[in-house]
Amino acid sequence: MTSASKTGPGIAVSGRQLTIGGKPFLVLGGELHNSSASTKTDLDARWVGLVDLGLNTVLAPIAWEQIEPREGEFDFTTVDDLLAGARANGLKVIPLWFGSWKNGLSSYRPGWVKRDADRFPLVIGNDGKRLQVLSAFSAENRDADARAFSAVMRHIAKVDATKKTVIMVQVENEVGILGASRDHTAAASAVYQAPVDAGLIAFLAKNAAELKPSIVRALATGGRSTSWPDTLGESLETDELFQALGYARYVDAVVAAGRAEYDIPYFVNAWLDSPAYSAENAYMAPAGGQVPGTYPSGGPLPQVFGAWLYGAPNVTMLTPDIYFGDFAEWCTRYSTSDVGFFIPEMKKDVAGVAGIHVAIGSFGAIGTSPFGIDGTDDEYPRAEKELLATSYRAIAGMSDAILAAQSRGEIIGFALTNEQPECVTDFGGYRLRIRRDRDDGEISTLPTAWGIVASDGMGGYVGTGAGFCVTFESHTPERTAALESVESGSWASGAWVTSQVLNGDETISGEKWRFPYLSVIPGISFGEAFPNARVLRARVYEY
Ligand code: DGJ
Repeated sequence: MTSASKTGPGIAVSGRQLTIGGKPFLVLGGELHNSSASTKTDLDARWVGLVDLGLNTVLAPIAWEQIEPREGEFDFTTVDDLLAGARANGLKVIPLWFGSWKNGLSSYRPGWVKRDADRFPLVIGNDGKRLQVLSAFSAENRDADARAFSAVMRHIAKVDATKKTVIMVQVENEVGILGASRDHTAAASAVYQAPVDAGLIAFLAKNAAELKPSIVRALATGGRSTSWPDTLGESLETDELFQALGYARYVDAVVAAGRAEYDIPYFVNAWLDSPAYSAENAYMAPAGGQVPGTYPSGGPLPQVFGAWLYGAPNVTMLTPDIYFGDFAEWCTRYSTSDVGFFIPEMKKDVAGVAGIHVAIGSFGAIGTSPFGIDGTDDEYPRAEKELLATSYRAIAGMSDAILAAQSRGEIIGFALTNEQPECVTDFGGYRLRIRRDRDDGEISTLPTAWGIVASDGMGGYVGTGAGFCVTFESHTPERTAALESVESGSWASGAWVTSQVLNGDETISGEKWRFPYLSVIPGISFGEAFPNARVLRARVYEY
């Protein structure tokens, strides 16, 4: 390979935004089902559907077992097919490196690794049994994965540095031990019984925000450093933290090998713990679990962020797969860093569509990606597909305005429900009060509404979404704010093109900036003449 391909292609996460050649890019992504990119024939059947959904980026697996079917012999056919298909359809790609771990297990390791557990050791669980999980404390495991990953990234650098189809890479998938709180192999136990890295202790003391209480207490009384249990106590929390550092160091070495070939953003994703998990949904549960080991122990969860940040400096972002729990709360916990926030997996239904607006509008997300985006109509109904497509198209139609407003902090994204019927915010010269459209304070049967509203940087506002309306309030008590004008349209080739000028019923004669529900709700709305894929601009005045 040439030395030129070792340099980065100018793709970075900077100022909390993803930039390609210095220009911010908003990822309107979707993640394929796990086996959908395994053959060209199967993958090719999916491109039309992906384009119809309004995606600009596809997240797709690259499986170690297919890349290196025999040790040292690499086959990049699946990578090439993925890139060729994406380019032909105008999409960017975020490959998911299914290497040592996928959902806490190691089912994607090649056969020659599977068959040689002496050389490639597996985790020994709390009950002394081997699990189908590669040990994070084995240099042999780590180096084999890093060699394969570096070969993949060398290839991508060679074939894609100019075209820039690949914009980030997810390394591994939802790492952590599923089935035990910590690894009991001799190598792992030797580390567990050795002094805790003093650097980690100092780092955790400074980054204690989400640490579990038992760890915080131990750090406060600490000073001993003969072993992990001696320093931090013998507990599930200590096990999880110990595993987190083990995984972080291993993954960091894999990322470093890839980054040495191609310097772009790399991130890891987390299977979140959640009270929503129960025995009934334990089989193939996509998320949840309250105890380390029922969810993958050691993955990049908030309570062990410190271990990940300390142990994996080459990883650009720690990201959440949000299926359960309070969506905005997970966003809050994962968007605190100054390096950017991304959601690689989330729901694709109505709740997911609402979440997309919340993440981009209120948490500065560099992008979103519902999972199982290529589902058949049985599994992913047409109506839901159309909802996502409508939303992504509208967001794409105002993405430059969104990116600029994210930088200025003059933007909000929201989901309005009976629990949260109103949002109030100040930017662009006025107070904005956002409620569900036709919410007269008594109607509690309105469906969820969602949207993004931003200042347009030119003295007005721009927004998209469904089922809400905005009223403006003057900051001067004796004055009243009202709509001067409202237009629907889009930025075609950078310039705004008006499709409708809205007034009368559509704005309650200048009182409300309305984004009605996308379909008629009997007894509530009567189907005003609004375009569905809507981006609306408003100018406000006061009297
Ligand atoms: C989360 C995983 O990361 C995905 O690859 C997939 O297995 C989903 N769960 C299934 O719901």
